[in-house]
Amino acid sequence: MRDDADSRAAQRDLVRRGYDAVSRAYRTDEGESAVGSSETTAAYESWIQELASHLAPGARVLDIGCGAGVPAARLLVEAGFEVTGVDISQVQITRARTLVPQATFHCADIVDFGLEPRTFDAIISLYALIHIPLHDQRELLSRIWQALRPGGLFLAVVGHGRWTGVEDYFGAPMFWDHADTDTYVSWLRDHASRWSGTATSLKATSVTPSSSRNAPRSVPPRDAWVAITLAALNAPGGH
Ligand SMILES: C[S@@+](CC[C@H](N)C(=O)[O-])C[C@H]1O[C@@H](n2cnc3c(N)ncnc32)[C@H](O)[C@@H]1O
Repeated sequence: MRDDADSRAAQRDLVRRGYDAVSRAYRTDEGESAVGSSETTAAYESWIQELASHLAPGARVLDIGCGAGVPAARLLVEAGFEVTGVDISQVQITRARTLVPQATFHCADIVDFGLEPRTFDAIISLYALIHIPLHDQRELLSRIWQALRPGGLFLAVVGHGRWTGVEDYFGAPMFWDHADTDTYVSWLRDHASRWSGTATSLKATSVTPSSSRNAPRSVPPRDAWVAITLAALNAPGGH
């Protein structure tokens, strides 16, 4: 029998192969969501604007599960930030390097990717944590916390309700795993207290899928996603 670590690695590899196959079906070069997707980019601009309003020019921003770099990394570059993106899918990263040449992109599994402490002024992860096995997500959130500079910001789209499974996604098998929103909020508060900071401005907002009700194909049966924005670590010494 395979141990847990092997099963989780296999789940992440399924996601990698899935996005290699569906990259273009999922997101156009212009950064539009595909028809039938349960995810929407409608709110991206306002999220990035809100984030940008708290950051100084040239701030370092990490995008975890950056996909093809559009629209999020591109919006961050246009706002004047130094942007790094990480994605497990080589096809997504190849597109991102072409579509957003001003940013730096790494093709890597974020679970194995080294995150230096106190490196980023903001970390975002839009619709990506939900593809990472829950056990790995929880550990990753702790590393995200440490990788933020004091006062750093975190913006993520997470689950609304608990769900896990493999489904057909634009013709490829895709793995999903997410907790409910309260669990994410409590994990973030735990991390904040462990690193002697306070999670200020912790805000969870519902994001309703744009088109799933009229979807012409099978889409994940979600009623809503949730965006969490968080200003981290007020403690003067940081972590
Ligand atoms: C739903 S897409 C979102 C892409 C982008 N954030 C956006 O909003 O357009 C999820 C992305 O997360 C990436 N991803 C999933 N698991 C990952 C992992 N373990 N490490 C790095 N990237 C991952 C996928 O390859 C995919 O590009």
